Amino acid sequence: MTLRDPGVPGTMDAATYDAAVEVLRVTGGRRLAGEVCVAGAKNSVLKLMAATLLAPGTSTIRNVPDILDVEIMSELLRRLGCVVEHHRDVATVTIDVPHRPEHRADYDLVRRMRASICVMGPLVARVGAADVAVPGGDNIGSRGLDIHVAGLRRMGAEVTSEHGYLLASSAGRLRGAQTWLDFPSVGATETILMAAVLAEGESVIDNAAREPEIVDICQMLEAMGAHIEGIGTSTLRIEGVEALRPVEHATVPDRIVAGTWAVAAAMTHGDITIRGAQAGHLSMALEKLSTAGADVHESADGFRVIMDRRPAAVDIVTLPYPGFPTDLQPQFIALNSIAEGASLVTENLFEARFRFVQELARLGADVRTDGHHALVRGRSALSGAPVEATDIRAGAGLVLAGLVAEGQTTVYGVGHIDRGYADFVPDLQRLGADVQRLDISDA
Ligand code: UD1
Repeated sequence: MTLRDPGVPGTMDAATYDAAVEVLRVTGGRRLAGEVCVAGAKNSVLKLMAATLLAPGTSTIRNVPDILDVEIMSELLRRLGCVVEHHRDVATVTIDVPHRPEHRADYDLVRRMRASICVMGPLVARVGAADVAVPGGDNIGSRGLDIHVAGLRRMGAEVTSEHGYLLASSAGRLRGAQTWLDFPSVGATETILMAAVLAEGESVIDNAAREPEIVDICQMLEAMGAHIEGIGTSTLRIEGVEALRPVEHATVPDRIVAGTWAVAAAMTHGDITIRGAQAGHLSMALEKLSTAGADVHESADGFRVIMDRRPAAVDIVTLPYPGFPTDLQPQFIALNSIAEGASLVTENLFEARFRFVQELARLGADVRTDGHHALVRGRSALSGAPVEATDIRAGAGLVLAGLVAEGQTTVYGVGHIDRGYADFVPDLQRLGADVQRLDISDA
């Protein structure tokens, strides 16, 4: 995996131009069967890497997925003065954090990966300053930072906005404070948590996010010497400490990637054993697949999904964890598009997430959207066509649809898929899919 940018024309060098014209060519109709292993979660590892900034010295993160976003976060940490080594053969990243890190996260990285803002909390707590570019528009809707900022301000940080940057500073140590989140935002919970562990006195985060990735970072912070109570609940109590120590920690498995494989089995009349995953993190999604007609068998190190019929349509309502994850919504719309019957999908987190429906319609899917609802009428067949992935999960949803569409589906915007799915194409091929990664000149 190299650091390339499929972004703005005119800013691309030769290597990035290559990435921009790569496509996935999927020929539909194959049944997927076999075993697949799930790596660490993208949505956890990036925050774990940022959290290492809280302690000088060398920390080691294990079970690191080989995805583009890990490279972007590595580059960001290097610019902050860290020495970062990615040992792909053992899925490990080591980060040597200096005694006085730099404190600026530039726009060129933040625009490529919104999660870059997660360095703000640790930097303001550790060095009393963080200048972080505001991510701006996002392909899945406008995503505010107001809850992050309100939390830092309650702890005594001064936060202003200037020339496209958020400037956070604190004259001395941050002060522990009680914060009530307007919404259980994953990112805001992480920002406030990472600031609170080094603040003076007790902090309480009410209406905190409870995602498995939040539990993961809490456990890593505890191993660094932080005091946190209520882990996995919506009230986190943090007793700040003066200093933390480096750590070695393994990333929680990626429940969204695991869920994507589960949907792939259900859509292709398949039989996939997903190893390294935790079924307990996907209870709602696996329950939906059972309702759709799949057999789901849990085991100690994962689960198996077997499907011997056309899926039945299932209604979906996305909500913060333990509700149905928004990051599996496009994959389930793909499933519903070939299901028996009609379904109603309600998206409560990201307003623009239905944009991908227009691409799915190119394959013949019958989906009507109105605000944050989508009505999906299942069709007995889709028909392959060129489509464009607009974000990571939309990309996954389109590939799944391509697996069952008649003929060839060419998925553009592969860079999005690379941000979240390690070894996606080889894994698909091992499971029996007819899929290739091609340069546009061959497509
Ligand atoms: C994270 C995940 C993303 C997932 C999402 C919800 C990462 C890198 N990304 O995103 O894949 O889909 O959680 O599970 O971990 N909001 C505000 N103000 C704020 C913060 C959030 O209005 O200050 C809103 C957002 O616009 C959105 C909702 O809250 O509508 C949820 O956002 P949040 O939980 O913060 O998601 P992210 O952390 O951005």
